[in-house]
Amino acid sequence: MDKGANYTVADIGLADKGALLVDWARSRMPVLAALTAQAKLDLPLTGMKVTGCLHVTKETAVLIETIAAAGAEISWSGCNPLSTQDEVAAWLAREGYGVHAWHGQSVEDFYWCIDKTLELNPTLTLDDGADLIVRVHGEKSQYAAGVIGGTEETTTGVHRLRAMAAAGDLTYPVIAVNDAITKWDFDNVYGTGQSTLDGIIRATSVLLAGKTFVVAGYGHCGSGLAMRARGMGANVIITEIDPLPGLRAVMDGFRVMKMDEAAPLGDIFCTATGMKDILVKHHFECMKEGAIISNTGHYDCEINIEQLKEMAVSVRTIRAENDEYTMEDGRRIYLLADGRLVNLAAAEGHPSEVMDMSFANQFLSLCRLAADGKDMDALVYDITLEQDMGLAFTKLETLGFSIDKLSEEQLRYSTDYTAGT
Ligand code: ADE
Repeated sequence: MDKGANYTVADIGLADKGALLVDWARSRMPVLAALTAQAKLDLPLTGMKVTGCLHVTKETAVLIETIAAAGAEISWSGCNPLSTQDEVAAWLAREGYGVHAWHGQSVEDFYWCIDKTLELNPTLTLDDGADLIVRVHGEKSQYAAGVIGGTEETTTGVHRLRAMAAAGDLTYPVIAVNDAITKWDFDNVYGTGQSTLDGIIRATSVLLAGKTFVVAGYGHCGSGLAMRARGMGANVIITEIDPLPGLRAVMDGFRVMKMDEAAPLGDIFCTATGMKDILVKHHFECMKEGAIISNTGHYDCEINIEQLKEMAVSVRTIRAENDEYTMEDGRRIYLLADGRLVNLAAAEGHPSEVMDMSFANQFLSLCRLAADGKDMDALVYDITLEQDMGLAFTKLETLGFSIDKLSEEQLRYSTDYTAGT
């Protein structure tokens, strides 16, 4: 481990490699580039101290640059023990940003890093999964009074925060970045769809064509994954607990059934539910020889790994992020990335192009909190439709597409209730 005044990273010598990765990401994040150029002029985060707990990837490094360009001080940790890209962490450290993160942490290391980043005495917190904010509301509550507001990146984190707010336990306003249309309709769908397949393929090199691919959960993430798996020629089965996405999956042309029925049919499984115990002992008992199981939800509780371990007579690592569990009857089950986010642990997370919009939402939400947070209640806020529309418009423009504009007459028609047949 390499340590400095404000960093703890695996190997600072990886910084040159990190620089190349960040260059690549930056060149594919034009919306953030435009916001950075403007931020350098307006300095909307002057005097702010931002503590972030979000996957340390090349895309996150570009977000960190934007936040710093706007005038804020920064300290950062990863939000998953397996997702930090060590090259990027090294580059951030060499550039002088506060960063405490490395790939392959224990749970203890993970919280040590969060606590270390809190020493900045943040005025703003940025979360992906709510671990930082829960820490500030629990064991590290001495920092809560100094925080003006926070942001949350992901579905699971927003659920936790809404539960905190409903219980009256939230002490400062939080913006649910995840719920922006320009986040969840793109990042969660296309980002998760592609990066999850990328992770499964990097960990296995398995052929998807002709395989039975079981996706648990048909929310934004599960539906994106199902669409991409089908595109690669897999026969996709969906499992659900909610009739609405269940029905949507049927109409989208997928087979929908209970996990108990899908378990003996699947060649590859991926959970995307945000719920614990989706794959458990009685599923492992009836899976095919060679079944591959993985998770793309935020936490590693969707597959009951304890039960899998108890059932195994032997375990060996076949290749990076791919462990073979042999059952008493000789069947082998392959668990990817220890049941953690397979897209970040076994691949590089979502592509830069899609993180461009998610992180533009993050940045604009931090700016809103810096300006108005003191007057906002301790609730979970959505981003505005104006922000969503503006970002979608800019993204289209940077991609080289233009859209039509309603004429004056069409605008009048759109609100004229007397116009009929
Ligand atoms: N979440 C999913 N993909 C990501 C990425 N590339 N960077 C940061 N957070 C992510």
